[in-house]
Amino acid sequence: MKYRYPFPFLVHGGDYNPDQWVDTPEVWDEDMRLMKLAHINSATVGIFSWSLLEPREGEYEFGWLDTVMDKLAANGVSAILATPSGARPPWLAEKYPEVLRVEESGVRNEFGVRHNHCLTSPVYREKVRHINAALAERYRDHPALTMWHVSNEYSGCCHCPLCQEAFRDWLKKRYHGDLEKLNFYWWNGFWSHRYTSWEQISSPKFRGENSVPALKLDWRRFVTEQHISFFENEIAPLKAATPDIPVTANLMGTYDGINYQALAPHLDLVSWDSYPVWEQGENMKSAYTCGFTHDLMRSLKDGQPFFLMESTPSVVCGRGVNKLPAPGRQALASMLALAAGADSIQYFQFRKGRGGAEKFHGAVVDHGGGENARVFRQVAKLGRELERLAPVAGTRCDNRVAILYDWENRWATDVYCGYNNDRRDYVEECVKWYAALTECGVGADIVSETADLSKYRLVIAPCLYMLLKGAEERLASYVKNGGRLVSGYLCGVVEEHDLCFMGGVPAGELKNVFGVRATETDALPAGMPGKAGYNGREYAVEHVCDLLQADTATVLGSYQSDFYAGTPAVTVNTYGEGKAYYAAFRNDGGFVRDFCADILKDAGIGPDTGITAPENVFVKKRGDYIFVLNFSDREQTAGLDAEYEDLLCGTRRSGKLTLPVCGYAVLKKTDSTGGHDVCKMDQ
Ligand code: GLA
Ligand code: ZN
Repeated sequence: MKYRYPFPFLVHGGDYNPDQWVDTPEVWDEDMRLMKLAHINSATVGIFSWSLLEPREGEYEFGWLDTVMDKLAANGVSAILATPSGARPPWLAEKYPEVLRVEESGVRNEFGVRHNHCLTSPVYREKVRHINAALAERYRDHPALTMWHVSNEYSGCCHCPLCQEAFRDWLKKRYHGDLEKLNFYWWNGFWSHRYTSWEQISSPKFRGENSVPALKLDWRRFVTEQHISFFENEIAPLKAATPDIPVTANLMGTYDGINYQALAPHLDLVSWDSYPVWEQGENMKSAYTCGFTHDLMRSLKDGQPFFLMESTPSVVCGRGVNKLPAPGRQALASMLALAAGADSIQYFQFRKGRGGAEKFHGAVVDHGGGENARVFRQVAKLGRELERLAPVAGTRCDNRVAILYDWENRWATDVYCGYNNDRRDYVEECVKWYAALTECGVGADIVSETADLSKYRLVIAPCLYMLLKGAEERLASYVKNGGRLVSGYLCGVVEEHDLCFMGGVPAGELKNVFGVRATETDALPAGMPGKAGYNGREYAVEHVCDLLQADTATVLGSYQSDFYAGTPAVTVNTYGEGKAYYAAFRNDGGFVRDFCADILKDAGIGPDTGITAPENVFVKKRGDYIFVLNFSDREQTAGLDAEYEDLLCGTRRSGKLTLPVCGYAVLKKTDSTGGHDVCKMDQ
């Protein structure tokens, strides 16, 4: 057996922690038997194995892992081998305290938990390099090895003296050694904060400097770069020994501590861990947020398929109340991932641990053991379905619309002080537009404002508060050349150091692009909305809104309340060959949905497929495959415009497609006409 990425099949598997069962190796044989029954073809091993692999400094014990890797290979299960830096052995922390993380308080953590390490410590980097090199040397030619899983969920930051020094060095480079430049960009004249030496600078802390937005932004950029260099340090020995084996790191969706758009180019493929909250009922908020995040993860590497590295096969354990999701929910969520471009469905974890913090977290194999448990049977059923869906592997989504989402803008939106400090909701605002597109049957890429936009017919920028270098020109030329751009409120307010643009908002040429000026911004207290009219309907104005002066723009809607009643709230402007819309107010009701439908119509962007679906049924297209996913709380019927092959049933369908709660179908248009077999989906 020798698999090579990209695989011609969908990967099904997940975190496998045989190191927890090293004293009862008969469990490993039972695991192999159960993996087969669950149609599992991949196991991610060694994520937290450091204390077993290197029980004493420099003494490696690979015997147990050799056995496990051999068993995996013998059973046709590919191994995704992890580097163990996510958690370290006690001896390492005891001997080299500098590897432990220092929190914002300035106090060094004691040994414990995981992810508790300094990103800068040369000792830690060296120890990680050594263990990674040993793993890579040992398994470079092992037939089970297919991919490297680097560390685990990189996150957090460290405030130790080494990190402070590294931060200052990073700042020196960024500001070309010119402290006056830094004083200017951080606006340190305010509150008498001008530095006279680099040594006076420290990371943002609640007991220290926490009022300078530009410092907070630079710190987050620095933390991202420390993660990238930590990652590069980790993969150097892997790449040296196994240049053809791809490396990934499991990301966490919209986690805001690392700019994944900056990290992604360093990964061979993106993978991420998805744990949506499925309460009872429709859960549409979760469904949209989850779909949005999958699309964001796919877009990190220009549409390349990603891996769903972790999900729970049943329940989680860390929330206040850990409700069992409805049967079928996990499978439906898995189909959503596939529809968005995932080439894998993987779980945390294969077998539940007996002890430790996560012993009640859902797993494929429960403490009761065996293949007859409900969750196991669900997983096995999904495994069989994934085998039928093999042709989907490697296919790409081709979208005409993009939503702008970037970590830089999110950070900037989070750190300023003003307007509505209670309701910034960067992610939620982006998801709102995503939901509106989904309801119209239109898929979207989720890209940064620095991405190449030329391939999109419509670009939606819900929160374009910060304009990074070149963004103004790029957006203007996009519209000039025929693109359609939509902006929400607070557009083009600051440059990359959170310095306000002089001369009004939106910045520079964007005033001409949108044909408006935002002269002031109002914030509305919770429960005290204003009103705006658009297209003969009335909408609540909530949380925040810009007051506009229309220069060349046509007014499509106006405020109907407060001292600015009668002034523009929604506008459109022709600029070059394109059009730019400005939606100046926030509304948590149906405005975005109605407005989005109008814009799509005006742009001539119809649904991605000919399938008509009722509310809360997603229709998502990936390559030639169409996923119809029933997220509603009742049986639903979609209308098929042509004849389709149903991949899961292996039959042909036309006319109507009825799906039970949590039901799904994966369809591909057929060329020929044929019999209409009735498919009995065993949901
Ligand atoms: C994360 C981690 C896993 C496990 C799961 C479940 O995604 O990567 O190791 O802790 O959460 O809680
Ligand atoms: Zn540190």
